[in-house]
Amino acid sequence: MAFAPFDLTGKVALVTGGNRGIGLGMAEAMAAAGADVVIWGSNAARNAEAKATLERHGRRVFTREVDVTDEAAVIAGMDAAVAEAGRVDACFANAGVGQGAASFTEMSTETWRRNMAVNLDGAFWTLREATRVMVDRAKAGDPGGSLVGVASLAAIEGAARNQAYAATKGGLISMLKAIAVEHARHGIRANAILPGWIATDMTAMAQAAPAFTEKVIPRVPVRRWGTPADFGGIAVYLASDASSFHTGDTLVLDGGYAIF
Ligand SMILES: NC(=O)c1ccc[n+]([C@@H]2O[C@H](COP(=O)([O-])OP(=O)(O)OC[C@H]3O[C@@H](n4cnc5c(N)ncnc54)[C@H](OP(=O)(O)O)[C@@H]3O)[C@@H](O)[C@H]2O)c1
Repeated sequence: MAFAPFDLTGKVALVTGGNRGIGLGMAEAMAAAGADVVIWGSNAARNAEAKATLERHGRRVFTREVDVTDEAAVIAGMDAAVAEAGRVDACFANAGVGQGAASFTEMSTETWRRNMAVNLDGAFWTLREATRVMVDRAKAGDPGGSLVGVASLAAIEGAARNQAYAATKGGLISMLKAIAVEHARHGIRANAILPGWIATDMTAMAQAAPAFTEKVIPRVPVRRWGTPADFGGIAVYLASDASSFHTGDTLVLDGGYAIF
């Protein structure tokens, strides 16, 4: 029999913020590896565009307008995912915003709360509801599941002028480790991905800033911006049975930036 540990046939992967950027890169790779995918975003037009892109892989694709800052919408979204797709095997809490300030002392409470609302409240509700689905299924005799949070290097490096954002990503990693310990008995794994500098809408201003291109990107050992496609392999791995002994980890994907 062929060695096919990364085959996702029969699995359903849900990606919040899956309509563009890193989330779409992960969703595309998982669809190409055989998974049916559910993507959430708050923008209906972007969801429709992403659905068309994802359907080229020949898998079932479900989209839903879910604002992850709305607890009731997340609960309804998870129920709908199970009703429509039949199950949720992997859940990627990826939706995020990156709001900074001119300086920490000028950071407003509104900025703090916005980062918290999307990146931490949203991830909490998403991961809690996905865990609930996976635990119920395990109790019915079908254990397993993979929970993934897209954190950031900002969680482990000093992210000047981005203290609120950094705090949400550090909190996300802590939440995932606690989930990993509590739910390993059900075969449920929980890991964090920490991207470095990735060319998406979130970093559009940095990409356009000459100082950034001249001073920061040359410090990335692989000497380029990361791309959404760079997150396909790790998503397939974490959604697959190949990672069934891998939990509670923080996986840094940054072209070597953090160790240089
Ligand atoms: N790009 C980087 O360099 C970088 C580095 C480290 C970590 N990250 C993390 O990677 C993740 C993805 O970022 P990205 O760079 O791909 O950003 P992006 O291109 O700006 O995409 C953000 C995604 O999140 C969704 N989203 C935002 N607010 C939402 C809400 N309230 N409810 C539901 N969905 C929401 C967006 O969809 P809608 O617009 O439809 O809502 C979009 O799909 C984020 O968690 C980010 O913090 C990125």
